[in-house]
Amino acid sequence: MTSKAYPSVRMRRMRRDAFSRAMVRENSLSAANLIWPVFVIEGENRTQAVPSMPGVERVSIDILVTRAKEAAALGVGAIALFPVIEGSKTPLAEEAYNDNGLAPRAVRALKAAVPDIAVITDVALDPYTSHGQDGLIDESGYVMNDETVAVLVKQALTHARAGVDFVAPSDMMDGRIGAIRAALDADGHIQTKIISYSAKYASAFYGPFRDAVGSSGNLGKSSKETYQLDFANSDEAMRECALDVEEGADMLMVKPGLPYLDILARVRDEFKMPVAVYQVSGEYAMLKAAAANGWLDYRKCLMETLICFRRAGASAILTYGAVDAARWMRE
Ligand code: PBG
Repeated sequence: MTSKAYPSVRMRRMRRDAFSRAMVRENSLSAANLIWPVFVIEGENRTQAVPSMPGVERVSIDILVTRAKEAAALGVGAIALFPVIEGSKTPLAEEAYNDNGLAPRAVRALKAAVPDIAVITDVALDPYTSHGQDGLIDESGYVMNDETVAVLVKQALTHARAGVDFVAPSDMMDGRIGAIRAALDADGHIQTKIISYSAKYASAFYGPFRDAVGSSGNLGKSSKETYQLDFANSDEAMRECALDVEEGADMLMVKPGLPYLDILARVRDEFKMPVAVYQVSGEYAMLKAAAANGWLDYRKCLMETLICFRRAGASAILTYGAVDAARWMRE
């Protein structure tokens, strides 16, 4: 069958020149869309490489502040803090709500020194539990929902009192968004925003992150399948999002990123509200490993993935390549 459109219609006409390609480009990326996840350790002037995440370092708070200034100067929208707790891991994760713990101290230092970059803290217990789960467990090892939510609320309040801009519950307990919102409001933190890890899947792509925060050893053979989403499911993610919207989330999040673009597009389409996506540690490690072998161009592939997230509907993107990308966008 011959097309009636061709040869009058030639799609390639608009693609021939850089000016017409640029004129009709449907999506764009700015540094303001980027959220930079960073691993924080105790001490002074300390950095530690994370072997499974080339280019990523754990840093002490003083170095974090210096790096945050650089990121802010490049226009990066936010920093997401992940504390690495070296001692004091306990079954009940008491350190998670210590007002003088590593996370709240990092928040105070950042808000004092670099006020123009947003600070996001993770609300979940896995850096603090001796068993590596995101919540409190019973005798059988099952993560208990309501008991965990009570601790998450205390943790979120600790972060809010330190002046954090967003709390980001990444634990996947039921009802935690509503409980955290109510507690924040009751304590006068009506402006503290909640970015909810609404559709967070039980994914093997978190492997390098667990090395970075040192929870993989503690977790051992246990999994997070009794609370994180089954990666075969999509409708269930929509229900999770709907509940978080109802409970007061300011932003939703889909995680991981690239293998879950369908979920991201669906969430954006159904909820018409700001959605973040997390390009997780394993995705970053894949790009870096291929680039180290000379098989992929890290810069080109990273920038492509970031635009793909925007095309699928992401407002914000958590990526370990945030500073790299922001720097390249300046060139
Ligand atoms: C823990 C948490 C995880 C990540 C962010 N917060 C890991 C997990 O759920 O086991 C993963 C991030 C990444 O892989 O980059 N609550």
